[in-house]
Amino acid sequence: MLAPGGAAADGTFRPHYDVFAHPRCTNCHAAGDGPLRRDGRPHLPPAQRGPEGAGSGATTCANCHREAATPVMPGAPNWKMPSPERPMMFSGRSAAAICRQITDPAQNGGRDAEALGRHLVEDPLVAWAWNAGTGRAPPPLAREAFVAAAIAWIRAGSPCPPD
Ligand code: HEC
Ligand code: HEC
Repeated sequence: MLAPGGAAADGTFRPHYDVFAHPRCTNCHAAGDGPLRRDGRPHLPPAQRGPEGAGSGATTCANCHREAATPVMPGAPNWKMPSPERPMMFSGRSAAAICRQITDPAQNGGRDAEALGRHLVEDPLVAWAWNAGTGRAPPPLAREAFVAAAIAWIRAGSPCPPD
């Protein structure tokens, strides 16, 4: 029998990967030192993660990105990239590599499985991806299905796929 949430909530990491690898996530979880936009184009004006991930000086993220998103301007409370110490890059990484990275307390800021689950289900930066405004497609899984998949995966012990 399928868990609530349907086929995506099968307890594996696979359905998460499809979301994590999407530009709505990889534009902040980028491989370089600055955010990207839309389908992965350079951010204009150029911005860098800075010492804490929140930019610096004229490119401080909060100068432009407010706590609430508008159709043209992405926004959520505490809008920033991951810090340089824990850059949490998802772009161009395999499902196995992303899974290990987010479940390793040394790389994820000391979160245990429950805190990781809360982050996926409740964090406004993650939730924004499904409310991203005009011309920005949502991730390929509906938010409800993603939440169900996250809960099922964590209940299963957050297993990672083989390399
Ligand atoms: C606006 C930028 C931004 C967007 C968009 C964003 N994130 Fe993040 N994400 C962050 C920041 C910043 C952190 C680090 C937070 C911290 O360490 O407290 C983070 C951390 C994470 C973590 C690590 C948490 C852990 O405990 O391992 C996961 C997982 C994650 N994000 C998933 C996602 C997913 C999935 C999406 C897309 C649906 C997404 N993020 C979209 C900025 C973003
Ligand atoms: C000077 C204003 C400004 C600053 C500073 C700024 N941004 Fe942006 N950002 C924008 C604008 C405007 C857009 C929308 C561009 C578009 O619609 O293509 C945007 C888009 C984005 C997107 C793309 C969302 C998507 O998926 O299409 C991300 C991610 C992002 N910014 C992150 C950041 C981060 C992180 C910082 C700080 C390190 C930052 N921005 C600093 C103005 C700014």
